[in-house]
Amino acid sequence: MRRILVTGARGQVGSELTLALRERYGNNNVIAGDKRKPDEKLLKSCPFEVIDCTDIGAVKKLVKEYSVDTIYHLAAILSATAEAKPQLAWDVNINGLYNVLEIARESKCAVFSPSSIGAFGPTTPRDNTPQDTIQRPDTMYGVTKVAGELLCDYYHKRFGVDTRGVRWPGIISSETPPGGGTTDYAVEMFYAAVEQRKYTCFLKPGTYLDMMYIPDAIRAAIDLMEADHHRLKHRNAFNVTAMSFAPEDIADEIRKHIPGFVMDYEIDPVRQAIADSWPNKVDDSAAREEWGWSPDYDLETMVEDMIAKLKVKLRNNLLVGSRP
Ligand code: SER
Repeated sequence: MRRILVTGARGQVGSELTLALRERYGNNNVIAGDKRKPDEKLLKSCPFEVIDCTDIGAVKKLVKEYSVDTIYHLAAILSATAEAKPQLAWDVNINGLYNVLEIARESKCAVFSPSSIGAFGPTTPRDNTPQDTIQRPDTMYGVTKVAGELLCDYYHKRFGVDTRGVRWPGIISSETPPGGGTTDYAVEMFYAAVEQRKYTCFLKPGTYLDMMYIPDAIRAAIDLMEADHHRLKHRNAFNVTAMSFAPEDIADEIRKHIPGFVMDYEIDPVRQAIADSWPNKVDDSAAREEWGWSPDYDLETMVEDMIAKLKVKLRNNLLVGSRP
């Protein structure tokens, strides 16, 4: 049985991944860690530790105390925040990862470290972006993601650390909102549609990006960590996608459930430039071949499920405060 530490456990993915891991491996075998204090749901299923991944001593102590053998390292700064605060992004995304890898080397832990579609850049082929291709991003987020992929591969080759990762696309979820990302518009749109029937989008029509519903994102992480290592030709990091759409496509799909939903545009040049430097749609055949990746949700089924979940939240007055 694994003993797992999740860093960034209160984030958009961490909050749901932690609960999924606890269901699979048992509550006491999954330690949730975050800089922020725990929320009720995470506290109830214990244990939770306030932790900052840039503090190597504190992470090391935790790994020893709980005999951790696997780290899902999710603590990170997303693309738009990274452009606003590049020094902070370097510190968290690179120094935080370096700390985790060093601890993993010493304590023989396996490490899941997510990369992103942000690891690609303007010179990368934009359609059917291959697994192995040009990676020259021009954002701080992208720089940290490419460096992170290389560092994880290095720790595997040089020290035998079992490092694995996926290049997550934009992730859509109803439990915990994302923060500071470029693909966040897709999540914001749902909240706005359910509450106000209107949304002002910060990306232009025609901006195609890869996206994924959170149950698939979580399964990708767990399945990759469970995969037979003999089958893995790649490690850091696998292209994965579930759908590719532009703002008007998702708005049309939402309108099927919320007639009268209207969307206009007020372009944010920073986030538009980031989105324009990312692929339209990646090729995830390596993940399919090497560890059996296949998503369950497409645009239609994701939108249906998201709206049903947000309507329940709205009915129970839970939207206020959880709104992105
Ligand atoms: N969702 C992330 C972002 O927009 C991409 O990995 O920053």
